[in-house]
Amino acid sequence: MSIINFKGRNIISIRDFSKTDLLYIINTARKLEKEYDSNLLNKHVLASLFFEPSTRTRLSFSSAMNRFGGRVIGFDNPDSTSLKKGESLRDTIKTVEGYSDIIVMRHPVDGAARFVSEISKIPIINAGDGINQHPTQTLLDLYTIKKSFGKLDELSIGFVGDLKYGRTVHSLAHALSHFNAKMRFVSPPQLKMPEDHLEELKEKKIKFTEEDDLSKISKKVDILYMTRIQKERFPDPVEYQKLKGCYKIDKDFLSKTKPGMKIMHPLPRVDEIHPNLDEEEQSIYFEQAHNGVIVRMALLALLLGELQ
Ligand code: CP
Repeated sequence: MSIINFKGRNIISIRDFSKTDLLYIINTARKLEKEYDSNLLNKHVLASLFFEPSTRTRLSFSSAMNRFGGRVIGFDNPDSTSLKKGESLRDTIKTVEGYSDIIVMRHPVDGAARFVSEISKIPIINAGDGINQHPTQTLLDLYTIKKSFGKLDELSIGFVGDLKYGRTVHSLAHALSHFNAKMRFVSPPQLKMPEDHLEELKEKKIKFTEEDDLSKISKKVDILYMTRIQKERFPDPVEYQKLKGCYKIDKDFLSKTKPGMKIMHPLPRVDEIHPNLDEEEQSIYFEQAHNGVIVRMALLALLLGELQ
């Protein structure tokens, strides 16, 4: 594979990556898994700006930077910053760009990452913007799939749960469209995959189905990608109460699945995967979360120009 120069790029949407880009990052992470220089990023500072809660994304970026000898500044509670005094997001970014070499930001507003990338002098990584995109989650999802199946092409994947507000689903469905995946979307009618995403799949001639009954697809998929019904995204709490707990799987569910099937979940989970599945070989969601570190190491090193 020829060398791609990622130095200085923004990572805003999974749509910003070609298939070649995606494979390049995955392969870089694969190489790092074998060996890496623990001082590679020791001259660099990452600003970690989280306007929404996070465990995995924030801590795996910090861990990635630390493993490379780099430093991390930032906040995970915007109430402790001058935003509380009325400072704008623009002024926050114009300030932080002078304190760091790269910014990772999670924000509740769709498009916030794109806006920030247009005013920042240093690279911006979108760690999730509203219901829009979560591109680095997709990179670690692809990495996990490649590790588990030895390939990305021609797999059948069932996306289950909150497909309307689920930014991880939106990003991953787009990425897998490069690999001719067969997609099966399972959700209540109120939480269906947004029409613009489905239109894009149709244009790319990707096969997909939509249903609300998980049992109809369980024997047909290689990957079951479970998601949480996201309480915080519902404008009407009554609507959430009606839909919470609509899909739950436990150990008994495994008898209704295809041999070799794997269960993924971007996490956090609430009640959609029973803990009695955690130790089963089909369950790879914690491995998936752990893969976030090596994939984010690859991304940081590439964007900071310390790896090619
Ligand atoms: N998957 C994911 O984004 O998890 P966090 O919200 O904990 O970062």
